Amino acid sequence: MLRPNKPDRNLALELIRVTEAAAIAAARWAGRGDKNAADGAAVDAMRFVLGAVPMDGIVVIGEGEKDEAPMLYNGENIGNGSPPAVDIAVDPVDGTTLTAKGLPGAMSVIALAERGTMFDPGPSYYMKKIAVGPRGRGAIDINASVADNLTELAKRLKKSIHELGVVVLDRPRHDELVGEIRDAGARVISITDGDVAGAVATAWPNSGADCLMGIGGTPEGVIAAAALKGLGGEIQGILHARNEEERLRAEELGYSFDTVLTTDHLVASDNCFFSATAITDGEFLRGVRFTDFGATTQSLVVRSRSGTVRTIETFHRHDKLQEFTTGL
Ligand code: FBP
Repeated sequence: MLRPNKPDRNLALELIRVTEAAAIAAARWAGRGDKNAADGAAVDAMRFVLGAVPMDGIVVIGEGEKDEAPMLYNGENIGNGSPPAVDIAVDPVDGTTLTAKGLPGAMSVIALAERGTMFDPGPSYYMKKIAVGPRGRGAIDINASVADNLTELAKRLKKSIHELGVVVLDRPRHDELVGEIRDAGARVISITDGDVAGAVATAWPNSGADCLMGIGGTPEGVIAAAALKGLGGEIQGILHARNEEERLRAEELGYSFDTVLTTDHLVASDNCFFSATAITDGEFLRGVRFTDFGATTQSLVVRSRSGTVRTIETFHRHDKLQEFTTGL
């Protein structure tokens, strides 16, 4: 018998409205040089639509603490309170700088999983990550060398190492990593921001991205885990402290900086949902387009239990858009 509290509906199909609203609101600010305005508009729009989703949600990954972020703060209850009980991770804009500059790769994303199954990053801002798509699953080990990982991955993908594309955030902290990837013979695909999209790209046919490596946001790592679960890929992470104070604070709360966080540690439930809508153009989704009648969006929605992966293009009529893009 189905447990009434289990998310048996395909919530991803309802979540798509949430990321669509956020992406459209953010896209109004794309290229206008104000990342806070883009983020604020996306948060407001996301909050507005999310409140109507029939669920009993708790924000595990939100926009910070209650006092700093009145909307979608960690621990906030979201939804109309009816079952299922779920954990929620939101990133109304992954790529605020990309959006402000009008650069490709910004998305609005959300992930949901059964209550109590999502890793809470706590004060851990960064995580070292390695992620691959379905064909690379089982070939990676975050504690192994870059060269060993790429050798194994190449074998698994039946490619030469020279043909592998490795997504890396373009940051000075990755200079050594980039050197190791190049020394191993693989190609680096530099991104300036947006490593959720980078992780998803590894699972996307013909994206050219075979693997993601490097240190990025812990919240983004959890959201990427939900996406990769549905897409059949894999992510591994190890928390990375920015400084000694952060390490001590996290350790006092029980976090470890040695433990390998697998996809299942990051999202334990095999019934999780992921929705992403492109704000600006990306590798697998086209960004928001405004027309004289309204706007079009492209989204990706994934449910891990069924393994369904949908790309959805939606046309939004102008008059309806006003409902969640006020104040523009
Ligand atoms: P924002 O949209 O919050 O700016 O985050 C973008 C992002 O690139 C993430 O995708 C990534 O995980 C993180 O920032 C990396 O952090 P940092 O910019 O500090 O290196």
